[in-house]
Amino acid sequence: MQLPKHGAPRDAIAARIREKKAADADWRGGRTWSLIYPAGEDVDAMLRDANDLYLFENALNPFRFPSLREMEVDVVSMTGGLLHAPQSSGGAMTSGGTESIIMAVLSARERARAERGIERPEMVVPFSAHPAFAKAAKYLGIALQQVSLDADHRARVDDAERLVNENTVLVAGSAPNYPFGTVDPIPELAALAAGRGISFHTDACLGGFLLPFYAQLGEPVPPFDFRVPGVTTLSADVHKYGYCTKGASVILHREDTHLKQHQLFFWDRWPGGLYASFAMAGARPAAPIAAAWGVMNFLGEEGYLRLARRVRDTTRRLREGIDALPQLRIWGEPVMGVFSFGSDTLDVFAVGDVMDERGWHLDRQTGPDALHLMVSPEHDRVVDAFLADLRHAVEHHSESKGAEARYS
Ligand SMILES: Cc1ncc(COP(=O)(O)O)c(C=O)c1O
Repeated sequence: MQLPKHGAPRDAIAARIREKKAADADWRGGRTWSLIYPAGEDVDAMLRDANDLYLFENALNPFRFPSLREMEVDVVSMTGGLLHAPQSSGGAMTSGGTESIIMAVLSARERARAERGIERPEMVVPFSAHPAFAKAAKYLGIALQQVSLDADHRARVDDAERLVNENTVLVAGSAPNYPFGTVDPIPELAALAAGRGISFHTDACLGGFLLPFYAQLGEPVPPFDFRVPGVTTLSADVHKYGYCTKGASVILHREDTHLKQHQLFFWDRWPGGLYASFAMAGARPAAPIAAAWGVMNFLGEEGYLRLARRVRDTTRRLREGIDALPQLRIWGEPVMGVFSFGSDTLDVFAVGDVMDERGWHLDRQTGPDALHLMVSPEHDRVVDAFLADLRHAVEHHSESKGAEARYS
């Protein structure tokens, strides 16, 4: 496309954008199992208000828009409260889990350079950890050591111990990881790091806004937050189970001094004046900050608990339905609303193909082959239809359409 010579009327533009959108996944109908976390029309309406109010502002300069600074401080503080961050802690908002993880890795590298003189940094991260860690390793010049998983799809502590050496700047674990929804042995991994003066990051991008409420519902939640000694940083995404529109994550440091010393970027050697920022972005959208503040205050503890109960009950029904199909099995022991299932006897991707034909969007995984589910509160409306189609798919799947179709 080339820039048109003449513009078009607003209505025509909106119509054309709507036309393009028509082919997108039907997430409102509960047909997608990742990417979006629908929580109901009341939450949507609140998010629209907040986004609309801050569509044009720029969060780069907190002195021009003090309201944004205040809301960011509040979001960080409310998130820290949920995750038992101590008084000494500090944090910042970023655009998402990936940026929060890159900041945690950067801070660990800088800290290790300052405190231990490490010039050839390495990090030790579970095989199931999100690719954001590999991205950070590539961007920041750090060697990535991947920890193998045990039969339950959790990081093996003995393998992590084998991989840690004098150049290790960071050990990490997920609470939970994306592929299996299992929580790594955070206390053991964090102890391994702390005993050697190494930073430890809990990736609670997925679990940060759900696990605390699962715990309140009386569900078993393995230790993962700042109550675990040795956890130095933690990421939690408001735009996942915090139900915010995209662009909102929180990176927390146990020590605010580490945030200021190792994460903050500061520059005054140019003609444009003092420049400081806490993450990758320069100009920053303001709407995600307002939306995060808005949704957290709109829902409150009570609202998050209500939504967590819906996720838990829906996940239970889905897991029972899948367990009832002898050809399928769920991998590992998923802790919350994220899990994947495969099969020892049939081609699960062929099952996925039939589900695709019936309008469900299930992500494919390998190692082991699996279909992936991420449950949102609004999925409670589609459980029966999904399970009926899954039963049909297991009975009527044909041979898989081949690798290309599988990984598309
Ligand atoms: C466990 C985990 N960590 C990090 C991320 C990265 O988050 P984002 O996509 O917001 O960058 C994800 C995304 O799904 C995730 O599941």
